[in-house]
Amino acid sequence: MSAVFKINYVIFTGIISVLFILSGENLSRSKYKYVGVNTCIGACHKSEEQGNQFSIWQNSAHSKAFLTLQTERADSIAKAKGYETRAAETPQCVKCHVLGKDIDESELKGSFDKAQGVQCESCHGPGSEYRKLSVMKDKGRAVEKGLIIHTEKEKFCIHCHNEESPTYFEFNYEPMWEIIAHYKPKEK
Ligand code: HEC
Ligand code: HEC
Ligand code: HEC
Repeated sequence: MSAVFKINYVIFTGIISVLFILSGENLSRSKYKYVGVNTCIGACHKSEEQGNQFSIWQNSAHSKAFLTLQTERADSIAKAKGYETRAAETPQCVKCHVLGKDIDESELKGSFDKAQGVQCESCHGPGSEYRKLSVMKDKGRAVEKGLIIHTEKEKFCIHCHNEESPTYFEFNYEPMWEIIAHYKPKEK
């Protein structure tokens, strides 16, 4: 009897500590804030040597995704879906057209401009802590500070490119990635 009690006790405290660790993890994650694309291009991501990520992004549909929500067509789509607010003010539209899903306004910094649509941080995670050059130089450290590097790119894209999108068309990963590919040139 008492042995059973002991085992239960061990399992119980085990579960509690796991929960504790997980909630601590969440807390430390939400301390990262979204700083906006202008912060990312400041010194680093607009040069030829770095791979021109900024202009590739700027010329892509992602940078215009919020502007798209400000069109009449978007408003009529929102209306047809039964929303009573304009598309650009409808959270169920904004969630894919600005950031990823589940992002709270309190995680945005003043430098973050929603009008810039799906930005670097929508895909690479909030940059307030990894943005510093000293951190960014070291990929491992950057990842510790919130940088997201995707190993399963397709799965990640489907986060937004799915049937929940009112204008969804089949997402064909390879050609879609080619349109927005923005590699860092290989170091010589
Ligand atoms: C946070 C949500 C989100 C994620 C994640 C995302 N996208 Fe998008 N993507 C969009 C939205 C919204 C549009 C439409 C923008 C518009 O037309 O205004 C779009 C449009 C595009 C377009 C242009 C399509 C066209 O026909 O004009 C391409 C290409 C694209 N995405 C590729 C990708 C790839 C590849 C990935 C994964 C690496 C990805 N996207 C991840 C939201 C997202
Ligand atoms: C739609 C999602 C999406 C957007 C928007 C986006 N990226 Fe990426 N990015 C990716 C994916 C996916 C990769 C390839 C895997 C990886 O390294 O995470 C990548 C790769 C990179 C790499 C190359 C890493 C390497 O070692 O080759 C850099 C640098 C980068 N992104 C910076 C940026 C910057 C800066 C912006 C904004 C101007 C941006 N990205 C916008 C999804 C995105
Ligand atoms: C699950 C993510 C997601 C949600 C939610 C979402 N969108 Fe989109 N939207 C996308 C993606 C991805 C694209 C580009 C490719 C596509 O249509 O699948 C897009 C493209 C668009 C386009 C441009 C394409 C066209 O045919 O004109 C409009 C307009 C649009 N969305 C309006 C809206 C409105 C309005 C809402 C809210 C009622 C909304 N979207 C909700 C992901 C989403």
